[in-house]
Amino acid sequence: MSTETKPPVRRVTVPQIAARKGGEPIVSLTSYHAHTAAIVDRYADFILVGDSLGMVMHGMETTVGVPLELMIMHGRAVVRGTRRALVVVDMPFGSYEESPGVAFRNAAKILKETQCGAVKLEGGKRMAETIRFLTERGVPVMAHIGLTPQSSHVMGGFKTQGRNEDSWPLHIEDARAVAEAGAFAVVVEGVVEPLARKITRAVAIPTIGIGASAECDGQILVLEDMLGLGEQAPKFVKVYGRLGEEIEAAVKAYATDVRDRSFPGEDQVYR
Ligand code: KIV
Repeated sequence: MSTETKPPVRRVTVPQIAARKGGEPIVSLTSYHAHTAAIVDRYADFILVGDSLGMVMHGMETTVGVPLELMIMHGRAVVRGTRRALVVVDMPFGSYEESPGVAFRNAAKILKETQCGAVKLEGGKRMAETIRFLTERGVPVMAHIGLTPQSSHVMGGFKTQGRNEDSWPLHIEDARAVAEAGAFAVVVEGVVEPLARKITRAVAIPTIGIGASAECDGQILVLEDMLGLGEQAPKFVKVYGRLGEEIEAAVKAYATDVRDRSFPGEDQVYR
């Protein structure tokens, strides 16, 4: 048994995130496993177990095929690997749209089985009734508007929103509706800068931008994108590392060592 004493679990809370509106920018990243989450935990205010894991980890073309059980499995791992950040778990497509009752049942399952602090769901005005139903029953909800990947089939792909100014009132209405329904924060994805500014000014809850400029109250990126682990990252991603190249170089060196019998060497052998 290990005698190592771990620091106590003391997490950022939902009200603390909500209170950051207009203040110090909120830092957030996605994470899907215990080991990356433990690193992110030291720097982020909240960690999102995003359903992007279907594409990033499981090779799916969209997030539509992600099952609830997969979100719960990754959510558990991230909660276990962290002790500081608020952990938010995405509700996958099909787990909340049918009715507020279905949404509550699945949100409660996520909270109970992962021990996360909040759930996130996509949709603005159309999901307001569900957000109210959940928040009134003790489920903290982060909303997600603008480019909503679970609707990519309807939208015709992953398209930047708000290029046409005529659409702005609808996006602003979405933001107001989720805020009034009780969401504690809202992810604003893939919208042009002037729209992001208007949305941020229109609501009293923090806006968390991804591809939505610095006009938001916080930022989120998919960890693997900013680490340079995937293929071509989208324009809005600043790539802070080149892990894909480093992994390739390490795997190549290992394969060479095994083939020429230089691994295992003296240092790796039990005598
Ligand atoms: O699934 C996800 O990773 C997300 C972020 C892109 C906000 O929803």
